[in-house]
Amino acid sequence: MSATTAAADAGAKAPQARPAAPQQPPSKKHVIRTLGRSLREYKKASILSPLFVIVEAVIEILIPSVIAVLIDRGITGESMPDIWKYGLILIACAAVSLIAGFLSGRFAAIASSGFAKNLRHDEFEQVQRFSFANIDRFSTGSIITRLTTDVTNVQNAYQMIIRVGMRAPVMLIVAWIFAFRISPQISMVFLACIPVLAVGLFGLIIIVHPIFERVFHTYDELNNVVDENLQGIRVVKSFNREDFEDRKFGRISQKIYALFCKAEKLLSINSPLFNVCMYASLITIAWVGARQIVASGNNASVGLTTGDLTALVTYAMQIMMAMMMLSMIFVMVIISRASAERICGVLTEESTIRETADPVTDVADGSIDFDHVTFRYSDHSERPVLDDIDLHIRSGQTIGIVGGTGSAKSSLVQLIPRLYDVSSGTLKVGGVDVRDYELEALRDEVAMVLQKNVLFAGTIAENLRWGNPYATDEEIRHACELAQADGFIQEFPDKYDTYIEQGGTNVSGGQRQRLCIARALLKKPKILILDDSTSAVDTKTDKLIREAFHHEIPNTTKIIIAQRVASVEESDKIVVMHEGRILDQGTNAELLERCEEYRSIYESQTQQHAQQDLDKESQDLHEEESEASGFTTDYDEDTRTSDVIARQKEREREREADVAQDIEAIKGGER
Ligand SMILES: Nc1ncnc2c1ncn2[C@@H]1O[C@H](COP(=O)(O)OP(=O)(O)OP(=O)(O)O)[C@@H](O)[C@H]1O
Ligand SMILES: [Mg+2]
Repeated sequence: MSATTAAADAGAKAPQARPAAPQQPPSKKHVIRTLGRSLREYKKASILSPLFVIVEAVIEILIPSVIAVLIDRGITGESMPDIWKYGLILIACAAVSLIAGFLSGRFAAIASSGFAKNLRHDEFEQVQRFSFANIDRFSTGSIITRLTTDVTNVQNAYQMIIRVGMRAPVMLIVAWIFAFRISPQISMVFLACIPVLAVGLFGLIIIVHPIFERVFHTYDELNNVVDENLQGIRVVKSFNREDFEDRKFGRISQKIYALFCKAEKLLSINSPLFNVCMYASLITIAWVGARQIVASGNNASVGLTTGDLTALVTYAMQIMMAMMMLSMIFVMVIISRASAERICGVLTEESTIRETADPVTDVADGSIDFDHVTFRYSDHSERPVLDDIDLHIRSGQTIGIVGGTGSAKSSLVQLIPRLYDVSSGTLKVGGVDVRDYELEALRDEVAMVLQKNVLFAGTIAENLRWGNPYATDEEIRHACELAQADGFIQEFPDKYDTYIEQGGTNVSGGQRQRLCIARALLKKPKILILDDSTSAVDTKTDKLIREAFHHEIPNTTKIIIAQRVASVEESDKIVVMHEGRILDQGTNAELLERCEEYRSIYESQTQQHAQQDLDKESQDLHEEESEASGFTTDYDEDTRTSDVIARQKEREREREADVAQDIEAIKGGER
């Protein structure tokens, strides 16, 4: 349960990440070793499948030799007993080859689908271990592609490798040895084909592999668009942006199509190349073989016979088939290599948050000490998000945090349950550096309700039990009473068994906030952090929640981030943030006296300014909506609005031109 509430709530906060930073591609050996660890219980099937394939292939190669003897001794030699004998051997060979083929197919299917299952599981498990900083490096879409399409590609390639990958070389080598035994001269024809095919194949690999890398990168973009669209489907509809979204999707889809076409067109060279080699070999064998038969008078003791030529033609077909299979495996490997590297990227991504060897498992109290803490989201960013934060909170205190948008209030509190690590300075909870705690122990004691709350599909009670799986019905109800949620829950026909839709869409914003507060309270934490978590709750209920906290959980340290000064007014200490720094800290009275910024926030929210403010807010909101939706009803604003629309259209045109250019470049490359 520990990390879940904080992490789950906070998970929603993590912004759409930037694509993973470009890295050196991992070496093939490293990729194979990393992915190979996911084979586990399917190693046996992975060995059995190629073993049966070898049996199947060797027997298939024996068959032409048996047929050759059958023709020479039985049919041409007119010996009925030989026809019977070799006929029965042929049937036995066919039966064994059939059974071996069936078993190899079965084990290959078990091994490859089991391998894919383990890969998916390992990736998912790894993603759960990611810190916020790790999650920021990958986008949601990219993680989805890596868990689905990429795994399927690797699964298909693996199945091909353990089955066909073993069969093809065995067939190739053994068939060539048999052909050599019949006619060393004719068997050289096959050797002549190998360099031609090798050059063709490797050329293809070099050209096509980067295209497939781009295809998968574009898949990430596609998944991101779908993810964003579905998550924000209500906003899309309310702003009539369906066409825009449709075009955005269409552009990326078109790019994938263009890339795939280019790659497949190149790969299609593979097949004619093989056909040319195969028919050239057959013609050569028939030409040389026929001349030798005529010269020998079809006499085995003198030279080549008809039976031998039949066997040689069959071996030629088998060798070419084997080469064809090898080329298909190459293609499969080309496609899956990019996927395997991307899966490897997830599996080997090291969590930026690591526990010490001997972590502290007990949080003494809810005191918090920031000592000259500096924090940046990325090592590459120039300016720190939090700069030289010095803040000391005693256990049980109530702390209010106010400040403008983007002043790093959320960033500050996210450091407490170690969702991110400080860049410099120290942060102590209960007198111990947060980095010295066992993560689970620390997060068990720090409950966080973040700005963007998330509820999961399931009943209200199930959602609340994320806070404490062992909570009794009575405890759940009590937490809901504190969070002022019990009232509206009782009005639902199914009460605590009411089903919450995915993402909590069937409850209102304020109801969702209260449920999330109740969920956090059920953890009975030593530190409770509410990040703007009552913004959608009316002022009266907000006050009731604060009063309940004051009376019912006096020993819990409470940190309340709020836009409304009224929500933090009675706190023991109010911290005023500005551009990542603490501007001032003190009680409401102290700050009113000495902090200009606080006074202006306070005054702007008091009665005499309230109406004025409300008017301005609604005007601002109106403007924002007009900008976003691209239409307005306010004719006074005509000129400004048309500017906004023009800018938006210009951006759309630029994006469309970019993709069109990309597609043209792809097509141009094909030509
Ligand atoms: N995951 C992230 N990666 C990179 N930068 C981030 C991330 N989250 C926030 N930031 C940046 O850090 C700065 C502070 O953001 P933060 O969310 O802490 O502000 P805030 O005070 O909570 O704002 P608000 O009142 O709007 O909630 C902003 O400039 C923001 O762009
Ligand atoms: Mg915030």
